[in-house]
Amino acid sequence: MEINGTGFVLRGWYLEDAISLQQHANNPNVTACVLDRFPNPYTLNDAVIWVNSKQNQNPMVNFAIAVDNKVVGGIGLDFRTDVYRKTPLIGYWLGEDYWGRGIMPEAVKLVTQYAFNELDIICILAFVLSKNPKSMRVLEKAGYTKQGIIKQSVIKADEIYDEHVYGINKPAL
Ligand SMILES: CC(C)(COP(=O)(O)OP(=O)(O)OC[C@H]1O[C@@H](n2cnc3c(N)ncnc32)[C@H](O)[C@@H]1OP(=O)(O)O)[C@@H](O)C(=O)NCCC(=O)NCCS
Repeated sequence: MEINGTGFVLRGWYLEDAISLQQHANNPNVTACVLDRFPNPYTLNDAVIWVNSKQNQNPMVNFAIAVDNKVVGGIGLDFRTDVYRKTPLIGYWLGEDYWGRGIMPEAVKLVTQYAFNELDIICILAFVLSKNPKSMRVLEKAGYTKQGIIKQSVIKADEIYDEHVYGINKPAL
């Protein structure tokens, strides 16, 4: 399954993507504001493990972002359990060479539309560190609104940050 954006494609992960994935993900500027589970440094072995783990997704929830059929980033939904089972979290990153081109605001919009059309969910949330206003702007451009700020609740690289919570609800039918 593929979703076409302007100058990029959202698609599944292939084993051949590992080298390009490693090259773009292995960057402290990319990892500075994401979860610690995103490896830093990002080795070829990390890339192979990721790509292998995303084969045969059903439904598809983790997309490679490809430009000229080379992977330059990723975007996906993280499903949760219990009362949060219909409220996944969205996460995304892009190789630094591709920042500032409007790719991610459009990618977030496309994945959000896909998710509300194809998946049984009611709401999508995103958690953003206070030091990442660019990501907040990405979400706002994709139609998300700020729901609140959880004060001094996240530790990244031994610094404590506020977390900004963004959300979007499934449009009423
Ligand atoms: C955050 C990220 C996905 C942005 O993707 P992108 O495709 O480069 O986004 P764009 O630059 O096209 O759009 C971002 C918007 O934020 C704006 N912006 C840039 N720096 C900003 C800042 N410091 N404060 C506020 N807005 C800012 C841009 O001007 C643009 O808005 P505009 O189109 O209205 O001018 C990318 O920088 C990235 O991958 N960062 C590392 C990983 C990461 O932080 N992921 C998100 C974790 S929550």
